Amino acid sequence: MQEKIIILDFGSQTTQLIGRRVRELSTYCEIIPYNKFPYDDKSVIGVILSGSPFSVYDEKAFKTELDRLRTHYPLLGICYGAQLMAYEAGGSVEPAPSREYGRAILTEVNHNDPLLKDIEVGSQVWMSHGDTITSLPENFKIIASTKEVAIAAYHVEGEKTWGVQFHPEVFHSTCGTQLLKNFVVGICGASQSWSAESFIESTVAALREQLGDDKVVLGLSGGVDSSVAAVLLNRAIGKNLTCIFVDHGMLRKNEFRNVLHDYECLGLNVIGVDASARFFKELEGVTDPERKRKIIGKGFIDVFDEEAHKIKDVKWLAQGTIYPDCIESLSITGMVIKSHHNVGGLPEKMNLKLCEPLRLLFKDEVRAVGRSLGMPEHLIKRHPFPGPGLAVRILGDITPEKVSVLQDADDIFIQGLRDWGLYDKVWQAGVILLPVQSVGVMGDERTYERAVALRAVTSTDAMTADWAHLPYEFLAKVSNDIINQVRGVNRVCYDISSKPPSTIEWE
Ligand code: XMP
Repeated sequence: MQEKIIILDFGSQTTQLIGRRVRELSTYCEIIPYNKFPYDDKSVIGVILSGSPFSVYDEKAFKTELDRLRTHYPLLGICYGAQLMAYEAGGSVEPAPSREYGRAILTEVNHNDPLLKDIEVGSQVWMSHGDTITSLPENFKIIASTKEVAIAAYHVEGEKTWGVQFHPEVFHSTCGTQLLKNFVVGICGASQSWSAESFIESTVAALREQLGDDKVVLGLSGGVDSSVAAVLLNRAIGKNLTCIFVDHGMLRKNEFRNVLHDYECLGLNVIGVDASARFFKELEGVTDPERKRKIIGKGFIDVFDEEAHKIKDVKWLAQGTIYPDCIESLSITGMVIKSHHNVGGLPEKMNLKLCEPLRLLFKDEVRAVGRSLGMPEHLIKRHPFPGPGLAVRILGDITPEKVSVLQDADDIFIQGLRDWGLYDKVWQAGVILLPVQSVGVMGDERTYERAVALRAVTSTDAMTADWAHLPYEFLAKVSNDIINQVRGVNRVCYDISSKPPSTIEWE
């Protein structure tokens, strides 16, 4: 049985980060809403309680049945999790005189406590709370303090229960990884056997069992997730997997051909469908971004459905959904919001069973699995690219001619990033065709042509992003090349907006 750590989510921004840190310890974990603990699951070896936007004394605060957890599992409460355990056992939690936020230094450490093994006085931790524990119940003992926070960490005597008011999961807690390791490995006894290879082995076996001789279809997008899902399924069921790669005409320059070639080299059974004419027709004259998205989304489903129906006896639809798409995120009202699947609407329309072999993986784990499966680095490190493609990078209406201009400019930018060794340093990049013409001069002639904007951002999850500080020399070269080589463009701008308040895509 796959041993696991459960992270009980009380709504903190950093809950996913706890999950990632535990996985980095080669230990499988699942993030579960605070009120859905899997009491029947015999493979749970320890539980971490997350932080929360609430105060423990708020009427609406998220509560869980602590008496069914304490003494039943090794427990680590982080921030709100620590406060909740102390409060419910009779301790006091009150608003801190001033919000305790930012770096702090451990001034007292009980080295005999297993949670604090190899953690030194002077270690940096990260605090972020408005409340603080002001008194502990009787059998709760302080095991670490900072100058401002006397009860930085506690242990409950006679139990495997701990609480920390700082956040070991964030990068700024320099002793955080050691502390989590002490809990997960030292206290819970995790065997640290979760790896890309072990995942592939167990998933291939499980897919063979689940799918038997059934036929499966999968929509490839050229992106990392669907590609890795396809290669994994191919290993499990070979030719019973048919992949469909739809060209809606809004892909990058030569992308359809190149990616199709990559897929064929990987031994995938793939059908490439050039449906661009149909999409251009439906998009004619459409300027509203959301309508563009809807038309492309629906068109994709129709084309995919038509192709899938040409294959006899298909029973399953496979998708490259990954863990962050599936974690049920908690809203502040306590409602559980289920996130959407990659290709919204497709499973319902096709009446097929859904197979999502990557649904438990974080993005970096998907890449590690891809590497272990022998996929080429350029496929694995590919930047994210929006489903509607260049359609949302052409402001205003779309014509084949505009797509072609944008593809040429985009190709120069992306190839330039690769040539200058910058491609892997940015999260994603692209060119936007603006609905603006401006005056220029080329040779002796006055020109009146289009302007484009270059967009390149750094990010870790696309939720927030900063504009990439690319070297001026590089921008100058790209600008020059675009203006000289792409007919119809005489001006290049660089987008220096961050997200928020801007977004990565312009539409
Ligand atoms: P924004 O523009 O919201 O983008 O900052 C965040 C990330 O999502 C991608 N994106 C999309 N992906 N369909 C997709 O599959 C879409 O309609 C879409 N819109 C934005 C965007 O490229 C970035 O990675």
